[in-house]
Parts: sequence; C-alpha cells; structure tokens
Amino acid sequence: RQLTINAKPGAPIQPTMYGIFFEDINFGADGGLYAEMVENRSFEFPQRLMGWNTFGNVSVSDVKPAFDRNPHYVVLENAGHDQKFTGLENRGFFGMGLKKGMNYDFSVFARLHDLQGKEAKIRVELVDDQDNPIDKKEITIANNQWAKKTVTLTSNKTVEKGLMRVFLESADGVDLDHVSLFPEDNWHGLRADLVKDLEDLHPGIFRFPGGCIVEGTDLATRYQWKNSVGPAENRPLNENRWNYTFPHRLYPNYYQTYGLGFYEFFLLSEKIGAEPLPVLSCGLACQFQNKDNDKNAHVAVDDLQSYIDDALDLIEFANGATTTKWGKLRAEMGHPQPFNLKQIGIGNEQWGPLYPERLKKFVEQIRAKYPNIKICGTSGPSASGKDFDYGWEQMRKIGVDLVDEHYYMSPDWFLKNAGRYDNYSRKGPKVFAGEYASHVKGVDDQPTVAKNNFEAALSEAAFMTGLERNADVVYQATYAPLFAHVEGWQWRPDLIWFDNLRSVRSVNWYVQMLYGTNKGTNVVSLTENGKPVEGKDGLYASAVWDKPMKRYIVKIANTGDQPQQVTFSFRGAKISGQAKVTTLHADDPRAVNTLDKPNNVVPQQSSVEINGNACTVTIPAKTFAVYRF
Ligand code: AHR
Repeated sequence: RQLTINAKPGAPIQPTMYGIFFEDINFGADGGLYAEMVENRSFEFPQRLMGWNTFGNVSVSDVKPAFDRNPHYVVLENAGHDQKFTGLENRGFFGMGLKKGMNYDFSVFARLHDLQGKEAKIRVELVDDQDNPIDKKEITIANNQWAKKTVTLTSNKTVEKGLMRVFLESADGVDLDHVSLFPEDNWHGLRADLVKDLEDLHPGIFRFPGGCIVEGTDLATRYQWKNSVGPAENRPLNENRWNYTFPHRLYPNYYQTYGLGFYEFFLLSEKIGAEPLPVLSCGLACQFQNKDNDKNAHVAVDDLQSYIDDALDLIEFANGATTTKWGKLRAEMGHPQPFNLKQIGIGNEQWGPLYPERLKKFVEQIRAKYPNIKICGTSGPSASGKDFDYGWEQMRKIGVDLVDEHYYMSPDWFLKNAGRYDNYSRKGPKVFAGEYASHVKGVDDQPTVAKNNFEAALSEAAFMTGLERNADVVYQATYAPLFAHVEGWQWRPDLIWFDNLRSVRSVNWYVQMLYGTNKGTNVVSLTENGKPVEGKDGLYASAVWDKPMKRYIVKIANTGDQPQQVTFSFRGAKISGQAKVTTLHADDPRAVNTLDKPNNVVPQQSSVEINGNACTVTIPAKTFAVYRF
C-alpha cells in the first residue's frame, strides 16, 4: 500500500492535545496519589472512629478544638489498671505499605487533656503484618495548648499490609488530632512513584477534579475548591461521590480529605508541564436531569452568584496579584508567582436543558472580568451520542471555546469512529475529548466490567490517529479515569493501577505516552489514493511535523489479523537516513500489564532506513507503530 505524506506543515497541534483527567474515584486521591497513610486522620468521618481500632479509655470530643472546620479530636486517657492500656490503631487504606529502608514522617497535633496535667507521653509504632513492631518512637506532651509534634520512623523491611499504633504511656491523658503518616518519598504530599507515572506521559493538559466528583451526588457534596486550600489540617471533609454508586463495590468509608486540593493540583500541573484545566460545578448535581426537581440537587438560575463567584475567585487564586484576596492565599501557601491558568470548565456531563441557561450566566461574568480565559462547556454527546446536536447548538449560541465530549465505548466503536471529527464544523467551539476509554466487556468472570487489555489499547491508538488528523478542531483529549487501587476500585478500565507499594502502567498508558511524546507541532497530510487512512483492512494512520526536532512522525495502527506492507512516500521534503521505530504489540488481544508483570506489553525500539524519500515497511498484525523520520 502506498501512503503519501505531504511534507508541508499544516494546522498547528495544540500543546494541550494529549493530557490527563484526574478524579478521586478508585481511591485515586485519598489512598492513592495523596501519600497520606492514615485513614480518617482528623476523626471527621461520620462515625468519628471509622478506620480506627481503639483500646482502653478512648473517646471523641470537639471541645476547644484545634481546627474550626475539622473540630473533632480523640482523647486518650489512662486505662485505670496497670495491666490495661489505652491506644489507637490505624490500618490505612487497605493496609499500610512499608518499604525497607524508608523513613516515615509521623505528625500529630496534641495537648494535655487536663488543664492540671503536667506531662504526658505517647508511643508511636509501625507494625508488620505478623503483628511485630518494626520501629517505635516516644513523644512528650507538656502543653495545654495545641502544638504539632513530629517524629520519624524507619522500616527495616518491606511489608504489604502494615499498620500504625499510638499508645498512651503516661498517667496524664492527651488530646490528639490530625494524626498523620507520610512516606519520605513524597513530592509535596503526593506519592513519588505515581507522580512519575504522570510525568512520563508528558501530558499537555491536566483536568481536575473530575468527573462526577465536581458536582457531587447532591449540591452539598459537590467539590468546593475553597475547602481544598489553606492548611491541610483545616480543610473540611467531604463525602466522596463514589461512596455509593456501585452496589457491588460499596465503600462506605470513602471520603475526601482534600489533602490533594487545588493548590497541589496547580503545583503538580506545573511540575509535569501540563496546562491546568479546573472544572467547577454549574449549580446542578452530577448528571442532573430534573427528574424530581430536587432542591438539594440544583440551584435556581437567579441564585447562582456564589457558584459564579467560586469560578471568578478560582481564577484570582491561580493568576491574581498577591495583593488580591485569593492571590494572597496562593502566595501564603508558597507560590507567589501566578500559575498562568488559561482555561476553566463549567459543569460535567450535563445533557439537559437546565445546563445552558446556567452556563450562560457563568460565561457572561467570566468573559466580563477575564476576557482571555477560555471556557469549556460540557454539552457534548453522552457516551451514546444522545443530545449531540442539541448540546453543540447550545454551546455555539453561548459561545464557549471548547466542548467536552465523553465516550466509554467498545473497541469496535472506537475503530468505526476514527473519522468522527473529519466533518466537524471548523467554526465555533473546539473539541475537548474530556473522558474516553475503550471498554472490552465480558473478558473474565465479571461480564459487565471492562479491562485494560491490548485490544482496548490498540483501538484507542487507531482512534487517536483521527484526533491527530483533525487537530485543527480537536484541541485536547484526556483518557479516563486515571488511577485505580487494585483493592478499591469502582470503575475500570483505568490508566494506572497501584497497590500501597507499587504501580503499573497499563497497555493504554503506553498508547497515551507514545502520543504524548510524539505530539509534533503541525499536522501533515497522510493519504492513500487521496483519502485518509482510517480503517481499510484495519489500517489507521496519521502524521505530524515536529518543528524543534525537525522530524516527521508517522503513527500507524494495524488492527487487522494480517501483516501489512506499506510504503511511505514523502512529497516536498528530502529525507534519508535512519528512522527510529517504536512498536506496541501483543499476540493475545487479552494481554494486560499487572503489578506482578508490569512489562508484559511495552514498546519495543528498532530502526529502519529511508532513502530517496520513500521507505517500505511491514506493520505486523495487531500492532501500533510510531516512525520518526
Ligand atoms: O470517569 C468516571 C466517570 O464517568 C466520571 O466521573 C463521569 O464524568 C463519567 O460518567
């Protein structure tokens, strides 16, 4: 087959083209990226001691608290007998993963329980899965005022499911709050290994904090960014929207501490080189359809001002001068320089008529105060394509800059939709494919739950050639969801899986990484007989020019069962020498990467010669290949 590449650089590819979507689902934040190892560290879960085992004389109080927005704390008093003892035990999120040689930073806010008390002592212990103490340290408390105390413990072994205990060691009792344990290998409180998994994707855009989490099960549980900034100890707890949703995966202990909040999101975006894209509630609960006109789930259009203020204030928090209210808080938190926020999303998966009338109000005020901030609406098609025309028509009328489309569909759908954007209108809003993943169902004992296998990844690679070819209208795309704890997921597939010690990059991660690291700067035309290569005999291809690297990059997916010989012919450029080739292939479409076999399906490198502007290669069956000429 002859594939012709016209060397003339075409439409620019946005730096935001391939990115990440983060949501605290599957224990993605608390118990995941947020490295805090203690569950319910502030005793604010509805059952105040959820996550804790207690022994001896332990109670909960909120009298003269340390933190006004997290008022509950625990009281440890003498057990009243020399053979009894008082203490607490926390097993973290599915056990505490401890690594040999790693330091663990323990901290607690403490005071003497009795005003007349003189000196109390507590002992902190790390314990292995056989109940053997690994390390212990004592802390003395001799103050009636709340004060932060810290000690460092070290693990001399690797343990998958350790735990932490805190014992009262004195006759005098203590009040304790915000009992915290972090591994030393964290970056601003985030798990270093998971941060690296994000950084290596080279994402251009970082959407946060979701997803349905943005708008909550009801208005009260929506993500309120103002609760997620300032000192972590005083960020109030929120119920996680994924607490209930899947009856077969019920985690009634799933709450958001907001330890990973909007400040950490902006910092992380900066570190990994991605443009931040915050998404805020539009005043409707998640996927609100006005079924019962529930007052707890939607705000009247005339009462939206505090929601709109949240959006305006967030822009000030990110970009405002340090003399402004929210810019000052950013500076106090350690980042006087602006975060250079360029766009904001309003609403998530709102497909009904209640959404546009609310969005319009946001757009008017954001445009008036921040004319350079781009606005992302969400009325793209639902996964089924429902409301497709209605949503886009409304978004055009309102004049948003981008429209967020979501699709969780079968591999077959992804292959058939590789040409989806070929005929999208080039006028008006651009496309943000804000949530997508290929779902292969029925591959194991749970027929309705999909997995991250090679078949899914290859169909995504093929589909993404269509995103790339249409980069003049598709400005950004984020696979979803991002993270999942192997013992605590509600949704799959997901890009990165982890337990408390390790993480694994799914096959789909490698597809995203190959696009992210081979993004290029301009689309170039790649055709076969004058037409895009989008599916004939299972072949899909696209090409880009990378200006700084001075390279043409061709991406080609052979989803068919037969190898295919193709000749790339360049028109309008002289190319010769060695081209680097990266291929992703598995013989078995069901192949997956797991924590125990993380390198089961990973890219392979090779090279090929190109002489006289043409190069003939064979793309093996079921292979995604990237050529750099
Ligand atoms: O990605 C998981 C969920 O899928 C998101 O929270 C929601 O936006 C979509 O329905």
